[in-house]
Amino acid sequence: MYLHGTMRINRKGHLEIGGCDVVDLAAEFGTPLYIFDEWEIRKNCRSYVQAFKKYYPNSETIYAGKTFLTTAMCKIIEEEGLGLDVVSGGELYTALKAGFPANRIYFHGNNKTPEEIILALDNGVGRIIVDNFVELRMLNQICQEKNVNAKIMIRVTPGIKPQTHSYIQTGQLDSKFGFGLSNGQALAAVKEILKMPNLSLMGLHCHIGSQIFSMESYRVATEIMVDFLQTIRVECGIVLKELNMGGGLGIRYTSEDQPSTIDQHVETIASALKNRAEKHNFPLPKLIDEPGRSIVATAGSTIYTVGTIKEIPGIRKYVAVDGGMCDNPRPALYNAKYEAIVANKANQFPQETVSIAGKCCESGDMLIWDIELPTLETGDILLVSCTGAYNYSMASNYNRIAKPAVVLVNNGKADIIVKRETYEDLLRNDVIPERLLNKDRVLSEAL
Ligand code: LLP
Repeated sequence: MYLHGTMRINRKGHLEIGGCDVVDLAAEFGTPLYIFDEWEIRKNCRSYVQAFKKYYPNSETIYAGKTFLTTAMCKIIEEEGLGLDVVSGGELYTALKAGFPANRIYFHGNNKTPEEIILALDNGVGRIIVDNFVELRMLNQICQEKNVNAKIMIRVTPGIKPQTHSYIQTGQLDSKFGFGLSNGQALAAVKEILKMPNLSLMGLHCHIGSQIFSMESYRVATEIMVDFLQTIRVECGIVLKELNMGGGLGIRYTSEDQPSTIDQHVETIASALKNRAEKHNFPLPKLIDEPGRSIVATAGSTIYTVGTIKEIPGIRKYVAVDGGMCDNPRPALYNAKYEAIVANKANQFPQETVSIAGKCCESGDMLIWDIELPTLETGDILLVSCTGAYNYSMASNYNRIAKPAVVLVNNGKADIIVKRETYEDLLRNDVIPERLLNKDRVLSEAL
């Protein structure tokens, strides 16, 4: 397995992250456990900040909170000087509770409710990214009623279909997100906004998809967006000053993946923007980037304890762990591939090919098919790497399995940033109606 961030193998032959022995972490905090390498998160944030400083200083990097958001994560993002993209009242509430500066929050989403919009307005979020006409008119009405002004951007679908899983392609015209460019809806939205005195249109947003390797898609998308800025200038007589190119930079999950670097990604967008703006003699806008996965994916790992092992002679050896699709739905949803290492046998050579199964009640609950590992025994600690993005945030309580704890490691220190769920937590919102508690009840009454 590729060793990401501060991972190393110590003298005991155990895997270490952030100076903490992973076997000790399993003993102290239990498994399954999400481990986040603080150094790696900060390093990735700084790579974005530095690349923008180098190629396009008038810029802002905002972290896409949907990837992994907790109050501690908000603190790290704030300290690194990034903004924050939220997509729901829950994410917004998390950020506000963590004391994240509201003016650095960008509020996205294709179906914001009136309550969410009011929460955003009342707390003074920096930008609302309007996704469609219904939202636009609702936002305008709420602003009028409250007699407030909202700074907005509009989300545009530039008509790009990058190479990635179809569930995470978002730039094409046939998408639930954004105003279509090629069918004139985006321009119609701009014209409508200009008649709405309570809304200030600050700029344009697009997001073409996620886990993207080809920088060519970004170059083309940037050119299309700058062309649209120019169209708006010609058609409406206004010069928009902000361009948000979304997130989506891919990362290396396995040796099959060959992503571009953060530097290459930023350089591509910055140079496409500068060249195209020059062509139109368009004043350079502020450039905003919205990475999620490329900030946290490689910083996160999940550790499990090996439980049952089932060998079907001549066919396959299934090794089951104490988590699965409930803490990592990505293999089942997107056929995502992961690498793993046996944390207590980190210096041993692979001996056999096994498949790692979860403990949920369905055959699709497989974390890794056909991986070569040292001989596994019940009680071994298996670490799956690159689980920092869209694992904790997409975890479920399927089969009433409690969600793992999240621990942040750095310089030999390990701190819980999300406590492990308990059985009590699982029952917290369950209610038994009075009539089901009546012992004298005749069952036939219920029918
Ligand atoms: N901005 C917007 C508007 C987005 O919709 C997203 C991701 C991002 C930024 C961040 O994209 P990133 O840099 O993380 O690729 N659950 C899927 C990924 C869904 C992505 C949703 N939008 C997965 O597990 O692969």
